[in-house]
Formats: sequence, structure tokens, C-alpha cells
Amino acid sequence: MRPLLLLVVLLLSACSKPALVAPAATAPRLGADWFAWRAETLGVSADEARARDAALPAVIEPAELPPAVRAEAAAIWAGQCALCHGVDGTPVERPGLPTARAWGTTGARMGFTFGGDKMRAGVFRSIAEGKGTAMPAWGSTLAREQIAALVVHIESL
Ligand code: HEC
Repeated sequence: MRPLLLLVVLLLSACSKPALVAPAATAPRLGADWFAWRAETLGVSADEARARDAALPAVIEPAELPPAVRAEAAAIWAGQCALCHGVDGTPVERPGLPTARAWGTTGARMGFTFGGDKMRAGVFRSIAEGKGTAMPAWGSTLAREQIAALVVHIESL
């Protein structure tokens, strides 16, 4: 009986939903902190890290993003975006805050069906430049790599 019980417990724990990407233990790195950290992880100067970031495309394949960068994006989402968009992409309604509209009812929670790279690039642009009157522009706060990683994160919701 005992080994069987153990097997059941193991199976149950294996079936529980895994976390998408573990959020970084610390607050997300922003601005100069981000470039200092990224320079260290790349083994280049902060200026070089900035130059490399400026040359990045809007769409980066998930496999090309280091796990630590994806974890940073999850932390940014939780810390800066979830306030309006909800941790899992379900829009939050709060008095005094603009309400993010519920983006569709099918597919991903954010309502995007992510029809290819053109769409991903459009989502990148919305994050960088803002959207409507309520969605802030993040292009001067976040690096291109952070925004591209956010697009990947949103797609995974
Ligand atoms: C103050 C509330 C607020 C915060 C904070 C916020 N958003 Fe938004 N966001 C909105 C609203 C409202 C809309 C809908 C705007 C519209 O369609 O007019 C939106 C729209 C979007 C869209 C959809 C744009 C499109 O192309 O349809 C994306 C993607 C998005 N936000 C990502 C983010 C990310 C990533 C962050 C954090 C870095 C963030 N938002 C933070 C309110 C917010």
C-alpha cells in the first residue's frame, strides 16, 4: 500500500500546473540598473549593452531570450502591468484607474491570437508607444529587449 500511495502523491504533484516563468526574486531592474546588469551578464560595457539593445528587433524568439531575461519580464509584468492588466492577463477594474478593455474572449487571456510576427511587432509598438489615453508608453523606461520579452510573456498568458 505505501509505495502505491507514494506513487499517487508523486503523480499528483507532477500534474499540478507549473509556473510559467518564475518571477525574479527581486524587483525588476529598470533603466541604468538594467543595462548595468545586462552588461555584466553579456560580459560587455554598459555602453555596449545599450548599443546592442538599440539594434535588437521587436520580435525575439522565446528560445533566444535568456531565462533570466524572461524572468525579468515576468517581474515587470507583475510589478508594472498587472495593476491594470491582471497577473494572468484578466483586466483589473479599480476606482480611479483606467480600465484595460477585455481583449476578446477566445484564445490567450489578453485576447490576442498572436497571428505571426507582424502582430507581435504591433504589440511591441503598443507597449513602447502607449495606446489610447490610458495605456502608458514604456519606451523610455524599458529596454527593447525587456519589451520584446514582455511580448513573449503576454503571449504565454
Ligand atoms: C494604468 C493602467 C495600465 C498599465 C499600468 C498598463 N497598461 Fe497596458 N493598457 C491599458 C489600457 C487601458 C489599454 C487599452 C488601450 C486601448 O485599447 O485604448 C492597454 C493596452 C495594452 C496592450 C494592447 C495594445 C494593443 O495593441 O491592442 C498591451 C499589449 C499592453 N497594454 C501591455 C502593457 C504592458 C506590457 C504594461 C506594463 C509594462 C502595461 N500594459 C501597463 C492600461 C494599462
